[in-house]
Amino acid sequence: MSKFVEVFGVPADGVWRAPGRVNLIGEHTDYNDGLVLPIALPNQITVTASARTDGVVAVASSGQDGIITFELDSLAPGSVADWAAYPAGAAWVLLKDGYEIGGANLLVESDLPSGAGLSSSAALLCATAVALLGLRDLDVDPAEVARLAQRAENQYVGAPVGLMDQMASMCCTAGHALYFDIRAMSTDQIPFDPAADDLALLVIDVKAPHRHVDGEYAARRKSCEQAAAELGVPALRSIAPEDLDDALGRLSDDVARRRVRHVVTEIRRVEDTIALLRAGRLRDVGPLFTASHASLRDDFEITVPELDVAVDTALAAGALGARMTGGGFGGCIVALVEASATNEVLAAIEKAFSKEGFTKPTSLDATPSAGASRVS
Ligand code: GLA
Repeated sequence: MSKFVEVFGVPADGVWRAPGRVNLIGEHTDYNDGLVLPIALPNQITVTASARTDGVVAVASSGQDGIITFELDSLAPGSVADWAAYPAGAAWVLLKDGYEIGGANLLVESDLPSGAGLSSSAALLCATAVALLGLRDLDVDPAEVARLAQRAENQYVGAPVGLMDQMASMCCTAGHALYFDIRAMSTDQIPFDPAADDLALLVIDVKAPHRHVDGEYAARRKSCEQAAAELGVPALRSIAPEDLDDALGRLSDDVARRRVRHVVTEIRRVEDTIALLRAGRLRDVGPLFTASHASLRDDFEITVPELDVAVDTALAAGALGARMTGGGFGGCIVALVEASATNEVLAAIEKAFSKEGFTKPTSLDATPSAGASRVS
């Protein structure tokens, strides 16, 4: 008997999936109307589902005991807590936008580590949304599903995240990085195949506990928005790199100056990365990764010792470039390395972590994968 039948006692109508992501470069730029460049990972969240007609959604997770049920009629921000807040948020936003989703049984399964900065929240929201829509044969543009998932996370779950993770989970394609311009709401699929240049992209989970991550994220976002208001622009994207010094001179607060410098220079680094990738010069992207990390560490102040040690060790062991990726305060690093040096770099990081007394890091398969889809 399938797990779904075992849990819900009825056959499933279909299976949907949505992947996690790592961002190559462009960190904390999305909520500043900037540019990002994520890839979707092979790791994903799968939702097996059957339709119900009684206005009830029942969710179960292979990682948790029991079934959580909620009535669509009584959904309101905060009405469902813990992990089930994400499927509830997806149902809530779809209903609010007028989609008739009726009710559903949902079994959530995942091989995407949560709390590792790989967007398990966005993947869960997106996987649930595509399942709820798919059960009713409602065909919605992937970028629109991403926006709905972001609204659910902002308004239902209460996390003030940008739009990068949901777009990556919905719109990435295999073999490509997603160049997403948030202000223009435009995307471009950039071929990304390190192996063709005898390179490898390492993604290493540094296993650092996320400390105060939510409050710190919100604080960074607020600083950026306040600085934009002080500078009289709608978002920091409006500050051209050529005008950065002038803008910094007009800010009264040193912390604000550093936050702004990170965002403006990081957006430029995404542009430079794209230009290099388009010119077939992936090898030359390394220094941009490393500069991004320094900016996140010194100006944006969102790294932790595990991230810094992993990046410094990767570079000392010969990586062409390395940086933290994601929201910060833990999570993962990405490192661009010669394919032949992969094991050496990993071993060097493990050794450094053991010397520091850190938890053993793990590496993930970074094959650029496809965005959300129906599996069966
Ligand atoms: C988290 C958020 C994203 C983005 C990144 C930082 O992953 O969910 O919207 O802001 O942090 O780049």
